[in-house]
Amino acid sequence: MSNIVVLGVQWGDEGKGKIVDLLTEDADVVARYQGGHNAGHTVMVRNKQFILHLIPSGILHKGKKCIIGNGVVIHPRALIDEIEGLKKRRVTVGRNLFISGRAHVIMPYHTLLDGKHEEARGSQKIGTTGRGIGPAYVDKMSRTGFRMIDLLDSSSFKAKLKANLEDINFLLEKKYRQKKISANRIYNQYMKFADYLGPFVTDTVVLTNDLIDKGRNVLFEGAQGTLLDIDHGTYPFVTSSSASAGGVCTGLGVSPAKVDGIIGVMKAYTTRVGEGPFPTELQNSLGEELRARGGEYGATTGRARRCGWLDLVSLKHAIRINGFTGIALTKLDVLDGLDKLKVCTSYTYKDPANSCGCSKKGKPCKVTDMPQTVKVLDECEPVYKELDGWHKSTKGATKMKDLPKQARAYMDYISEALNVDIDLISTGQKRDEIIFVNRPFKKAKKKK
Ligand code: GDP
Ligand code: IMO
Ligand code: MG
Repeated sequence: MSNIVVLGVQWGDEGKGKIVDLLTEDADVVARYQGGHNAGHTVMVRNKQFILHLIPSGILHKGKKCIIGNGVVIHPRALIDEIEGLKKRRVTVGRNLFISGRAHVIMPYHTLLDGKHEEARGSQKIGTTGRGIGPAYVDKMSRTGFRMIDLLDSSSFKAKLKANLEDINFLLEKKYRQKKISANRIYNQYMKFADYLGPFVTDTVVLTNDLIDKGRNVLFEGAQGTLLDIDHGTYPFVTSSSASAGGVCTGLGVSPAKVDGIIGVMKAYTTRVGEGPFPTELQNSLGEELRARGGEYGATTGRARRCGWLDLVSLKHAIRINGFTGIALTKLDVLDGLDKLKVCTSYTYKDPANSCGCSKKGKPCKVTDMPQTVKVLDECEPVYKELDGWHKSTKGATKMKDLPKQARAYMDYISEALNVDIDLISTGQKRDEIIFVNRPFKKAKKKK
């Protein structure tokens, strides 16, 4: 019995869905702890592709319990559509799915405001997924949000909705010149959602902790990635939740003492979707080539992902915050055929105002820790180490010895520079396109 976290190391889309699906084999329970339907987790089962948004990526395995924790924000319509979509494809969704009564609900005005706020930001827009995530978390923090359990108390829901809409409609009418939103329409719609989702709603804090106490293996599934974390990411170009390991405890009501292993899912290069600084971005034909080879288009919005080299400065930051016990390196196969690979080892920052606080006033300085502001990060130039690429295909490799020596050298370099083990190497989209160096649940159990 052991419990492990699987989360993204970069700006999301690292291949968490594939790794979670794979490790579900050794788990009894898979629990999501943050984010919402901004996430898009792709799982390939044989030749069938599934994209999960709110439902844990363990759902494709029979007999496993899937939990949506209190830290998640739920768009009821999106969740119902996802359940129905899976059922149509003969995936069992019923008594295996549990939704926290404490999870907050995305309301229609959250989605509307997400769009309006982005418009108002103009050139400073974040490039959100437009799913209402930010405004829903704002209401959670300002204590005006609805939780799933509140949907089950129709009269209180109606009264609070009317009160909330006074403020929302003021904003919509006066600032955004929009029509008022009708309380009755939302009420009727959300009461239907409540009828559908009510049977799934439970106290998942009790459930998750009971399962842990009974010795079940629990896999905590993160969405987004550490660099999109509200506290530790490239603020304000981040999402609004705690995507890093700390989010597990608040997002599921589980003690840190119950976490036995933390697997960071790391793409063999870097991608980012949406706006914000990205020092190692390749704004050239090589960047386009990586996008084409890696199929780097958003699983939720279809937007083209920005592509670039691996960045040790931001990876060290992610490692410091999460304390990974192992890495799952994904998409190694996408790098096949490149003559040379680059890895960013530090940044150079030229700062006439000396705002980085270092002693080299006015002269370029070497930056090895993640800058705290996007202004500084934006002006950082990456310093690269060049490594040899490989021409032999790694696609579908299942054994270390099948990898070209340059691919092994690339991974050794990363592992040593970051001082972390690479436990899994993914060499394709499919379940069996994987090299297990260590099995994370077994490794965590051994450590205990
Ligand atoms: P997530 O949000 O972290 O779950 O990642 P996404 O599903 O948004 O994006 C990852 C994409 O890469 C998906 O299309 C996966 O099917 C694909 N993928 C995952 N692992 C590998 C791999 O090792 N090689 C290749 N070529 N594709 C992969
Ligand atoms: P998965 O779980 C990649 C990005 C958006 C935007 C920023 C804020 O599939 O890795 P939001 O809608 O959350 O307010 O947008 O965060 N973003 C993601 N990028 N993968 C994701 O999820 C993301 N979820 C949000 O593009 O830059
Ligand atoms: Mg994704």
